[in-house]
Amino acid sequence: MKLNPLLVLAGLAITLITTQALAAEPETVYLSSLDLSPIVQGWGQPQADKAVTGKRMSIGSKTFERGLGTHTDSLIRVQLKGGSEKFMTSVGVDDAATSDHAAITFRVIGDGKTLWKSPGMKRGQAARKVEVDVKGVKTLLLLADSGGDVSFGHADWADAKFLVTGERPAIVGSPHEDAVILTPKPARTPRINGARIFGVHPGHPLLFTIPATGDRPMKFAVDHLPKGLSVDAQTGQIHGRLDQPGEYVVTFRAANQFGKAKRAFKIVCGETLALTPHMGWNSWYVWENHVTDQIMRAAADAMVSSGMMDHGYQYVNIDDCWSVKPGASDPTLGGEARDASGMVNANLRFSDMKALTDYIHAKGLKAGIYTSPGPTTCGGYVAAYQHEELDAQRFAEWGYDFLKYDWCSYGNLAKNPDRAGLQKPYRVMGDILRRQDRDMVLNLCQYGMGDVWEWGKEVGGHSWRTAGDLGGSFNGIPGALFRDGFDVYSKRGLHKYVGPGGWNDPDYLLLGYLSNWKGQTAPTPLTPNEQYSHVSLWCLVAAPLIFSGDITRLDDFTLSLLTNDEVIDVDQDPLGKPGCRVAIDGDLEVWAKDLEDGTKAVGLFNRGEDEATVTAKWADLGLKGKRIVRDLWRQKDLGKYEGEFKASVPRHGVVLVRVRAK
Ligand code: GLA
Repeated sequence: MKLNPLLVLAGLAITLITTQALAAEPETVYLSSLDLSPIVQGWGQPQADKAVTGKRMSIGSKTFERGLGTHTDSLIRVQLKGGSEKFMTSVGVDDAATSDHAAITFRVIGDGKTLWKSPGMKRGQAARKVEVDVKGVKTLLLLADSGGDVSFGHADWADAKFLVTGERPAIVGSPHEDAVILTPKPARTPRINGARIFGVHPGHPLLFTIPATGDRPMKFAVDHLPKGLSVDAQTGQIHGRLDQPGEYVVTFRAANQFGKAKRAFKIVCGETLALTPHMGWNSWYVWENHVTDQIMRAAADAMVSSGMMDHGYQYVNIDDCWSVKPGASDPTLGGEARDASGMVNANLRFSDMKALTDYIHAKGLKAGIYTSPGPTTCGGYVAAYQHEELDAQRFAEWGYDFLKYDWCSYGNLAKNPDRAGLQKPYRVMGDILRRQDRDMVLNLCQYGMGDVWEWGKEVGGHSWRTAGDLGGSFNGIPGALFRDGFDVYSKRGLHKYVGPGGWNDPDYLLLGYLSNWKGQTAPTPLTPNEQYSHVSLWCLVAAPLIFSGDITRLDDFTLSLLTNDEVIDVDQDPLGKPGCRVAIDGDLEVWAKDLEDGTKAVGLFNRGEDEATVTAKWADLGLKGKRIVRDLWRQKDLGKYEGEFKASVPRHGVVLVRVRAK
């Protein structure tokens, strides 16, 4: 066949035009088709083409076949590298959220600029359509927050898609940060650390070990130690008992071949324990239901060998899973739940509880245990219901110094309790513990119900959890930290109710290696800056400093976060006045805590996704004139400032300072 050259040329031209047109045609890429694993959210798992509940997505009674179901507070970081033209979605609260919740705000942020923001949205409201131009945008953030009340925050990004002309979008994790150690290494000369005040009941055995850094051997002494107490010059352990109520002002002394140190200290014999927030370690977030006697002994060993004890950490606490688990298939969790007289037994992983606390006490440390007022603990192990008196006696007999008292199965007995009903189990246990012949600190773990901070101390508690589990979902830790740690505190004015003898407990320090709830341990999902924020915030709000990562596997960075004495001094300040938020400007916040010597600890936080300058204004701090500002993590004076102090703060990071007159 003979081809007509004109027709061939025309045909070629048409083909070229259509291919060009096709090349310019953007491809539609659904958000839900991407790898969702880097998404960070407050509860559950992100779901492709379903709501977070796993059900079909539905907003304001309209169903959607495609989209991404998340849960507040969530952060989706999408790398676009300039390859997308448009982002389109319909946002709203999923109809399957079984209860009402705080309003959810959806935000779309492109390279640091807010491209779209919803008003607060509630369940039942129609979805809001979003269409934003993302031409040239490198990183797109999709955020859903519910400002402090995360329950039922079922946030849907329905029908979410990109029009892509270049590089395909990809969901990525938070940007890499180097773990930079700011805490200076402890000097070889002695320094006395930790609490400067300690409470004990009259007639009860006292144990307090002087925490001091510096080379060993070290010699300890205490001036004006009251009758009934003695100090071991080698270990710094103070033992004995005080019969007379009163305040005893003493001086601790420590000396080694490089020098000496002293520190004023007050022993208060009276009705109040826990004059400063507790410091220690708890087994839950790393060992959960694998905890054993050996693990607890190794933790006590590590508390000493890591040096944590020299910075004031005292308690070595077993959480759930030490008692018998009815119906467990694992024989080591079995045995007789109680003896003939009704006294509770440990399971077979704990051969001798008394020997265990002796082991812990011999190191100058204290021991803690856990149970629940219901028939079983949260993990399904035998708990204290109808055996409260016997169990407390048993804990005292075993030598425990601390009891964490959960709620869990008690909720099945006390349905919709009023405030008196919520208080009841804790009042019962508080009274019983006070009648034992040893001091036992009581930690209430009922997740903040009934505004526990208003009455926790009155029922005999020394600290109380203010919210649910901070580490309930491994990937949710960063979101939970920035929610519970910041919003719950500032919105509800929790700081107003607490002080020496009774502390708000926002849960443990989730640093180092933690259980990933899949049978393994993994490094904390918090970035280095988030970890600095975590510890700084806990110290500013005077929270118990209870580390719950693997204490036998501490890397230098984690240890540096746990052992900065100037930062710990903020937490352990004897005035015991928790700090609070004093200024907020979008994602930038200033928190301040009054300290006993008239100075202030100030945290400049950046909850935003990009580095920003945070300003602490003297007017917000109640200060005037020139002030000296000291960086507490670096332990370095920064200079004199008038009117305000500004600092550049990285994403999710903090600058923690102490502001003084001279
Ligand atoms: C609850 C508590 C946790 C932990 C577990 C143990 O979830 O909040 O801190 O004690 O129970 O099962």
